[in-house]
Amino acid sequence: MNPIKIAPSLLSADFAALGKEVTLITEAKADWIHFDVMDGAFVPNLTMGPQIVKALRPYSTLPFDVHLMIYRPEQFIEPFIEAGANIVTIHQEATSHLHRHLTQIRKMGAKAGVSLNPATCHTSILPILEAIDLILIMSVNPGFGGQHFIESQLKKIEALSTIIKRENLNIELQVDGGINIKTARMAIKAGATCLVAGTSVFEKGSSQYAACIQDLKNSIL
Ligand code: DX5
Ligand code: ZN
Repeated sequence: MNPIKIAPSLLSADFAALGKEVTLITEAKADWIHFDVMDGAFVPNLTMGPQIVKALRPYSTLPFDVHLMIYRPEQFIEPFIEAGANIVTIHQEATSHLHRHLTQIRKMGAKAGVSLNPATCHTSILPILEAIDLILIMSVNPGFGGQHFIESQLKKIEALSTIIKRENLNIELQVDGGINIKTARMAIKAGATCLVAGTSVFEKGSSQYAACIQDLKNSIL
């Protein structure tokens, strides 16, 4: 089984020192850096734009995993990829032309991700699996860190993992929200291959980043 990837979410990092945080998280052996981009409309919070990704790009060679929790994501696909995003994930619920925009992300040289909110059924993306490199299952209602894991999402993770394995698809199955050692074990058992973690990585301070990341990786043992 491929090792589970841990993608710390900068949403829980020190926003007054993001450059240093990215350096520390990279040194702490994170696999990806997760950017939670919010527009205050699709979700009730406002966070960062492409210029933050551009400013942080020189601080790490890790893949920049950009999660667009925004309406009309097509407006920002190009700016984020030009800023240095390696993966761009858009929400199924935020656009009526999902296939077109996923194709655009790939055309621009990034990995194309689609995210499903808790109430969105996984069958909604089955007709376009060939256009998808990553599926992000929201295990919280998007907008804020520090929320509790919604266990009903495990069935969705399992269903997609079964399809991905059965059809031998090269799709990363990522889970975002409320990830700690206990819920990491549940998500991985259900078939997740990548975990986004904010609070559980950052809450104990930078001296513990590496240990917290390792704990999440070990949670499968
Ligand atoms: C929700 C965000 C959070 C964040 C992780 O919109 O996407 O899920 O990445 O936050 P924690 O790990 O604190 O739940
Ligand atoms: Zn996210």
